[in-house]
Amino acid sequence: MDAACVNSFFYFHAMTASPEIKITKAVRSRLAETDFNNLQFGTIFSDHMFMVDYADGEWKDLQIVPYGDITLSPACTTLHYGQAFFEGLKAYKHADGSVSIFRMNKNAERFNHSADRLCMPQLPEELFMKSIAALVDVDRDWVPAKANHSLYIRPFMFATEAYLGVTPSKTYKYMVLTCPVGPYFSKPLRVKIETNYTRAAEGGYGYAKAAGNYGGAMLPARKAVEEGFDQLIWTDAKEHKYIEEMGAANAMFVMDGKLVTPSIDKNTILKGVTRDTILTLARDMGYEVEERPIAITELVEGTKNGKLTDAFGAGTAFTIAPIASFSYNGEEYFLKDPAAREFSARALKALNDIRYGVVPDKHGWNYMV
Ligand code: PLP
Ligand code: COI
Repeated sequence: MDAACVNSFFYFHAMTASPEIKITKAVRSRLAETDFNNLQFGTIFSDHMFMVDYADGEWKDLQIVPYGDITLSPACTTLHYGQAFFEGLKAYKHADGSVSIFRMNKNAERFNHSADRLCMPQLPEELFMKSIAALVDVDRDWVPAKANHSLYIRPFMFATEAYLGVTPSKTYKYMVLTCPVGPYFSKPLRVKIETNYTRAAEGGYGYAKAAGNYGGAMLPARKAVEEGFDQLIWTDAKEHKYIEEMGAANAMFVMDGKLVTPSIDKNTILKGVTRDTILTLARDMGYEVEERPIAITELVEGTKNGKLTDAFGAGTAFTIAPIASFSYNGEEYFLKDPAAREFSARALKALNDIRYGVVPDKHGWNYMV
């Protein structure tokens, strides 16, 4: 590993032994030279990262080390056959300086569903949580103390065996990186409803946070951007008539006063943690919620008759990203002014109040670091 952040002249290993995680601290932090007023998503990494290797049925050598490059065999299964997946979650700074991680147990659970689907080893949930809590603790000064800012946490696992046969790797690495981030989008989204390309089909692995799902989405997403859109909404693989999800968020709508979102029972879309959170908060607020197939024609109709009063992407990175308009079959439909939408404003406030510790955490969603 190349500890690029450490000035080699001043370099020394400050080893702190915890029973299981060996911590090697970067001597010189990059914190002071980081511009927290200009955080482009996923470009600035905190001082440290977590890593552990899997071999012979065991996770061995838990380490927190200075953030830097790693070496890999060019023959490893990740590079050729895509045995790789990730998670995304966030840590928040409260007004009293304490730091919490939001619904980490849900990501731990989903991490293992992805591992299972890709024939990769399970990671004990306590190891997932411990690795993240320890890393956030070491880099707690990197959690921004600003409204709508947080520390984005990126756990991921990939195959490391050098073998070109098409079989699951025998060895893996699990790592965690963190990045201070602000809002993902600066404005409401113009989205294109995609009716040509497919993200995932029944029996596929759309529900897994597999690297391959994102690689395969890049061409359609780039085409949409070239056409002037900010994001895609995927539709079902069979008929392209029903809404699935967005590129990196679940799609949610308020129609006829009810919160409506596509159901997850066909395993084609990600079981979003934010989706689940918003459904719960909506029920708390007294809204009726429906998880069911949503026909594109319903959205078109709802725009015309005024019954579609809110539409947004819900995700960890996106938070609640308002949809300003959607395009379907070459026609663009404009929705109610995002600034005047009642549900998403209330849901965002309720969500932020919990994540930033403004109100009691009655659902037990905050893991205090
Ligand atoms: N759908 C996709 C394809 C995503 O990449 C994400 C982001 O993680 C989501 C949905 C939302 O999931 P979550 O709320 O757990 O971040
Ligand atoms: C997340 O919200 O964690 C995501 O995975 C989005 C990311 C692909 C940008």
